[in-house]
Amino acid sequence: MGESYYSQATEAPVTSFDLSLRPPAFSEFCGQEKIKERLLLMVEAARQRGDVLDHVLLSGPPGLGKTTLANIIANAVGRRIHTTSGPQIEKAGDLAGILTSVEKGDVLFIDEIHRLHPAIEEYLYPAMEDFRLDIIIDQGPNARSIQLNLPKFTLVGATTRAGMLTGPLRSRFGLVNRLDYYSAEELCRIIHRSAGLLDVPIVEEGAKEIALRSRGTPRVANSLLRWVRDFAQVKADGVISASVAEDALGMIDIDEDGLDEMDKRLLEALIFKFAGGPVGLSSLAVALGEDASTLEDVHEPFLIMQGFMKRTPRGRVAMPSAYEKIGAPVPSGSQGMLW
Ligand SMILES: Nc1ncnc2c1ncn2[C@@H]1O[C@H](COP(=O)(O)OP(=O)(O)O)[C@@H](O)[C@H]1O
Ligand SMILES: [Mg+2]
Repeated sequence: MGESYYSQATEAPVTSFDLSLRPPAFSEFCGQEKIKERLLLMVEAARQRGDVLDHVLLSGPPGLGKTTLANIIANAVGRRIHTTSGPQIEKAGDLAGILTSVEKGDVLFIDEIHRLHPAIEEYLYPAMEDFRLDIIIDQGPNARSIQLNLPKFTLVGATTRAGMLTGPLRSRFGLVNRLDYYSAEELCRIIHRSAGLLDVPIVEEGAKEIALRSRGTPRVANSLLRWVRDFAQVKADGVISASVAEDALGMIDIDEDGLDEMDKRLLEALIFKFAGGPVGLSSLAVALGEDASTLEDVHEPFLIMQGFMKRTPRGRVAMPSAYEKIGAPVPSGSQGMLW
């Protein structure tokens, strides 16, 4: 079965490579201009009032900079960041444990916040709103609640699925931001910055080749850059030129639109096994032997953004450009057209 290069790239644990390339300040964070502007304004307003920053939600596909922004926010307010994730908080006690180490103005970063246990979410509401934690101890007739007063902190939540967040949780964030895919120009700037940090010579055309195949995602751009750097070192003179980048990326089967093997297999399954759809996500996942949430979080958003497929109430549907991409005749009056 074909491994998806991008799933690897996006699911990869944070390596020191990632960390060294992670911009530490807004000034080095390329793109997402609107979001940066809003956050800078919030930080400045809080600073002027001597107040703690309001809670911030960051949503968007993997690899677009949510974790990076959470760290930048903490740097900007000059406080510590405490990092955890939805699935890591299993009991109220876990949450209490983290919150009791938080000091005034600190950032509590909860990654994958849509995966918080509903019971934990209930505990989070008063913590976010009134900086208070009500913990129930004991059970039955002896059950009583004790109240912990918390210092005022900033919750930064990140999610790949804003739609899965409950209304009450969402409404407790002062600012909700959706990160978008990056333009080729923005990715070029990120690639130049990373190449500089890695001390690899790169020409503009080489950066462009990588940017065009990075599916709008900085994490992918950095992963591809790392691969092209290795290739340039072993197979060429170490400089990343357009032709070096092209040969290097050709070797790992990434096409000119940035689609990888899993993307193409998804489109093929949609068209050949399910007659272009509509088909449900779980059927697609079974047909591909891939995890449904990886398809939904990593592959589909990009394919939809590029116009290769659509999500409809009845299921996933192939668009005419998907037929062209995989070299199949576009059926007349195809579902893609109808939907
Ligand atoms: N706007 C950006 N400018 C420069 N580098 C970025 C930017 N956004 C992300 N990156 C790089 O991409 C990698 C992935 O970003 P990350 O914040 O971990 O994404 P997410 O948390 O959304 O999955 C980081 O290691 C960082 O180096
Ligand atoms: Mg992250």
